[in-house]
Amino acid sequence: MVKIHITSRDGTETEVEGVEGLSLMEVIRDNGLEDLLALCGGCCSCATCHVYITAGTEDLLSPMSAEENDLLDGSDHRRAYSRLSCQIPVSDDLAGLRFRIAPED
Ligand code: FES
Repeated sequence: MVKIHITSRDGTETEVEGVEGLSLMEVIRDNGLEDLLALCGGCCSCATCHVYITAGTEDLLSPMSAEENDLLDGSDHRRAYSRLSCQIPVSDDLAGLRFRIAPED
């Protein structure tokens, strides 16, 4: 189990336990945080699993694919530290990291 901190849109922070092999999106969803719609189920086609990572932690995450980058370009809320949580596999590297759920498009 990997402890990860998730901040919801209302600013509430929740510590969740991630299981290696799942995506960050699945962990957020399985912990009942309803801000994250994840409509496509993790197929990298909806961008409703948009999160902000903490500056300086990007090298700990899997690299962004061209598909993820293209999809994020369609979001009005894209920032320098935007990622799609369905494209982030849970690993020990995520232990203690903080993610904020992005505003809804
Ligand atoms: S769940 Fe649809 S892009 Fe991540």
